[in-house]
Amino acid sequence: MEIIIQPDQLQASEVAARIVARTVREKPHAVLGLATGNTPLQLYRNLVRMHREEGLDFSGVTSFNLDEYVGIPPAHPLSYHSYMWAQLFSGINMPKERINIPDGMTPDIPAACRKYEQAIRSAGGIDIQVLGIGTNGHIGFNEPSSSLSSRTRIKTLTEQTRADSSAVFGGAESVPHHVITMGLGTIMDSRLCLLLAFGRKKARAVAQAVEGPITAMVPGSILQMHPRSILVADREAASELKMADYYVWVNDHKPDWQKY
Ligand code: PGA
Repeated sequence: MEIIIQPDQLQASEVAARIVARTVREKPHAVLGLATGNTPLQLYRNLVRMHREEGLDFSGVTSFNLDEYVGIPPAHPLSYHSYMWAQLFSGINMPKERINIPDGMTPDIPAACRKYEQAIRSAGGIDIQVLGIGTNGHIGFNEPSSSLSSRTRIKTLTEQTRADSSAVFGGAESVPHHVITMGLGTIMDSRLCLLLAFGRKKARAVAQAVEGPITAMVPGSILQMHPRSILVADREAASELKMADYYVWVNDHKPDWQKY
């Protein structure tokens, strides 16, 4: 795994935006895998800025979001549909028909999940998948004990994840129990995985995912098996990495062609 440690979230999100922008510039019909939550907020602000100020063009880009809450309609302010429009889609020129987010209101969840997988395949597969990590090591909403080769499906959130989302929902009891999420196998099919992690509370999950054993109990650890995964973390999220000094040295001594 390529590990890039930056002083803070702002600088880390600049690097992450350059990585995403490079994919879009090199491949105007790129397929982006997108995440929600607090982690990618600054990345999305940067992409909106790059679109406005540098003409970064999303007109040929397709996107697939990782997950959505079951039972929350798209128009609900706490849906991931609403999040994505507020944080990214309203500020860039990606055509509406190229935007894909799991439908939390579908009457037939297994059929909708199969269709989502098929749509990703039909689009040519995901070129770059943006990921956050949960305090329990989840990526997407693949909670600990998820099959390491799982596909898009319904999952039940752990109490820890529901507690982590309680502020947004105004109390843990209001956080839905069920979600639709891309599986770990779906994520692993992406050509590049870009994992972002910020803040002290992510340090343990990051260390376990990057330097611990590959285990379904830390779903993010499956990224060790990916031929191209990049972690961009701030110092706090990287603070439990045993080899942090080495990663920093490697990054500081990259030849120009390897820099982002
Ligand atoms: P966060 O969530 O970005 O809100 O910290 C990350 C996650 O749970 O995957």
